[in-house]
Amino acid sequence: MPVATATEQALEIKPLHPLFGAEIIGLDLREPLDDETFAKVRDAFNNYSVLLFRRQDITDDQHVAFSRRFGELEETGFAIAAPNPYIYRLANVDDQGNVLAMDAVKRTFLEVNARWHTDSSFRAIPAMASILSGKEVPEGEGETCFASMRVAYKAMPEGRKKSLEGMRAIHSYAYSVSLFGEVGVTQEEKDAVPPVEHPMVRTHAPTGEKSLYVSGHIESIVGMPVEEGRLLAKELIDWCTRPEYVYTHRWQRHDLVMWDNRCVLHRATSVPSKQKRIMHRTTIAGEGPVV
Ligand code: OGA
Ligand code: MN
Repeated sequence: MPVATATEQALEIKPLHPLFGAEIIGLDLREPLDDETFAKVRDAFNNYSVLLFRRQDITDDQHVAFSRRFGELEETGFAIAAPNPYIYRLANVDDQGNVLAMDAVKRTFLEVNARWHTDSSFRAIPAMASILSGKEVPEGEGETCFASMRVAYKAMPEGRKKSLEGMRAIHSYAYSVSLFGEVGVTQEEKDAVPPVEHPMVRTHAPTGEKSLYVSGHIESIVGMPVEEGRLLAKELIDWCTRPEYVYTHRWQRHDLVMWDNRCVLHRATSVPSKQKRIMHRTTIAGEGPVV
């Protein structure tokens, strides 16, 4: 009889919400997964769009190694960097570990995440996935909400789908941060990511299914007056995020949550004023322009 090695791990899939999302039970992500197990995780990710792995007390290096299995990683770049260039650190604490004052400039970076968005939609090649690790999590606040734009697209009337065909939106990092008073972001950082155009409906490559592709980073819609375009973007985001379509994740310490930026919107519910919230994220780069 073959002896089970440390890398052969049995896995169980438990849905998180009736429409999308699943918890993957039985894996220790500090260890490299064997190819067969990894393929199951990747398939679950492509089908469920949001995956939760509980009790993963991993180091940044282990987090990066697991993320790398899915593809190339984005480097952090922005001022919020952690020592590891692939780790984006979202923390409401200062360098001494004290919770930030309510007027601290650093809070801006966290508050931007309170609008529904998909990560790096302001890049010419937007992120494929993000993997977020809860290092210190508050109780009763600081949840993360998710909504599937693939589910939302499928539920749209055919006429509405047709009207969106070929439409393109302009996504802009500078616009997004401008909504929070500009503070803390340099001109150089903004210039590094000039506004980009993406289709508003995209094909989710692994499943071949169509998905809406809208985000809080949308500044305007090509061929529409600015205000009208913003209203349309808002209306579509509202459609995707009707309460019964949203999975709200209440964090436990050492949860690892992974989402598909090609077809999932997410937002932070709040930045705690007193409790610590420290999260580390890796970002898996997209494979090419949005189609
Ligand atoms: C992110 C993000 C939301 C949160 O990590 O990309 O938007 O709840 N996070 O921290
Ligand atoms: Mn985000």
